[in-house]
Amino acid sequence: MKKVLVAGASGYLGKYVVAEFKKRGYWVRALVRNPKKLNVVGPYLEPAVGELVDDIFVGDVTKPESLRGICRDIDIVFSSVGITKPNEKASFMDVDYRGNKAILNEALKESVEKFIFVSVFNGARYTYIEGIKAREMFVEELKKSGINYSVIRPTGFFSDMSQFLQMAIKGRVYLIGSGKNAMNPIHGADVAKVCVDAVNMDEKDIPIGGPEIFRYIDIAKLAFEVLGKKPKITRMPSWLIKPFILPLRLFKKKYYVLMQFLIAAMTNDFIAPTIGEHRLRDYFEELKKHWLGDQSSDNE
Ligand SMILES: NC(=O)c1ccc[n+]([C@@H]2O[C@H](COP(=O)([O-])OP(=O)(O)OC[C@H]3O[C@@H](n4cnc5c(N)ncnc54)[C@H](OP(=O)(O)O)[C@@H]3O)[C@@H](O)[C@H]2O)c1
Repeated sequence: MKKVLVAGASGYLGKYVVAEFKKRGYWVRALVRNPKKLNVVGPYLEPAVGELVDDIFVGDVTKPESLRGICRDIDIVFSSVGITKPNEKASFMDVDYRGNKAILNEALKESVEKFIFVSVFNGARYTYIEGIKAREMFVEELKKSGINYSVIRPTGFFSDMSQFLQMAIKGRVYLIGSGKNAMNPIHGADVAKVCVDAVNMDEKDIPIGGPEIFRYIDIAKLAFEVLGKKPKITRMPSWLIKPFILPLRLFKKKYYVLMQFLIAAMTNDFIAPTIGEHRLRDYFEELKKHWLGDQSSDNE
């Protein structure tokens, strides 16, 4: 039985990856900072996986000494460790770059067979965004290291699309740009299947997106439709927003990076090779039930 380390196991994608590796008969070690997170369904409906994990390793990638021995007896390393919420104290370079490098160093010490890493679709084009730059710098480290690796490059996750439903619940969806740019968002379970398939794939770079292509305006409309509400959508030109976010660069850098990311995402097309079977409408329906319970939608 092959043994895998899942780093990022408490996150949206990581939980689906733990479940998928277990489904395919692997022994799973999970790197977490807080083991309790494994036992609860996550905010975006990612499953509780505490009972599936064979070994819990508590560590923090910004403290390399806490990772000592993490790859002992491990055949495959998977990492989706990264900063996705601006409230983290550490920087993108600390976590996405140096943190993943600390995991790689442990993997190299133990002669791990393969390292599977998750970056973003078309990452190399967006390295002016610090979070993406840090992940792409780590990809370069992987290449240099000589380890066998694959980089999975998904478009936006369904968890991120939940922001549209959240805004629609509050009454209005705000879009950056015309809303006419398109993308094919992907469910964590569909990404996880490819992450596990990657163990036996020779491809180094694996771009993936979900089965349906949407314009951003259509995602906004879908969110209102699922709620049974009349759409209220405001489109904001990116040239108008850019000067307003500049001060964030000095005082709230992570929010600045998040805004840069949103501008890039909504004003460019992100259409990757389509895979998977999960539909965004079904996900919005599930989320609506989870967030609002039996509350009936107040049609406006
Ligand atoms: N979200 C998207 O739409 C999207 C699209 C394409 C690619 N991606 C890539 O996929 C990656 C994973 O996304 P996700 O949505 O699964 O993110 P997530 O839910 O925020 O998960 C991130 C994981 O990293 C862990 N982590 C963060 N800092 C750590 C530290 N110092 N030490 C140990 N673990 C740490 C988190 O642990 P805690 O639970 O303790 O915080 C969590 O398990 C992202 O980094 C991104 O590059 C995301």
